[in-house]
Amino acid sequence: MDCLVAPSLPIVPDRSSNLRLGIMASGSGSNFAAVAEAIATGQLPAKIAVLIYNNPHIKALEYAAQYQIPAVFHDHRGVERGALDRAIVQTMQEYQVNCVVMAGWMRVVTPVLIDAFPDRIINIHPSLLPSFPGIKAIEQALAAKVKISGCTVHLVRPVVDSGPILIQAAVPVLPDDTVETLHARIQIQEHRILPAALKLL
Ligand code: GAR
Repeated sequence: MDCLVAPSLPIVPDRSSNLRLGIMASGSGSNFAAVAEAIATGQLPAKIAVLIYNNPHIKALEYAAQYQIPAVFHDHRGVERGALDRAIVQTMQEYQVNCVVMAGWMRVVTPVLIDAFPDRIINIHPSLLPSFPGIKAIEQALAAKVKISGCTVHLVRPVVDSGPILIQAAVPVLPDDTVETLHARIQIQEHRILPAALKLL
């Protein structure tokens, strides 16, 4: 199935020639790698200024080293959400980031971060929002026995997974799907639509 692009995007003025990305990742980093690859192959005119990560064992670190992208660790443990976001904003500013990408960032962000980059923070989520927001989206989709699921790139707002949708892609849910098989099918689409959404910016 193909991806769908929102007809009118609530995006602020064109700064695309100078897109400096700050990517936040907590997981395996495959979406980070997809963006890095799109830039390296000339499909996306942008630069990843910094990777911010909160899991010291994240695989994205290997990709960051491969693409020579600076990586900054922000430990969330024992840190109040607002304080964590203040530290993240400071790092983003140090690296002159003008667009923030939550690529598998498994923390709820606060207005401290959101207000520092108005309409310039995007998130990728493994469901067709507004269905199945929040954690365990794939488990939710399987439990609901939907026949179609997918992924969404949207602008970030204070309510989790609620912001204006930029792009979605749909995938079939097969009768014998597990969380792993459905996630793998969704991730193929995520790796397409995340760079595509950034291209729109
Ligand atoms: C992605 O599937 C992304 O949609 C999901 O985490 C995964 C990260 O994968 N994000 C969320 O669930 C956010 N609510 P990656 O580390 O391989 O890019």
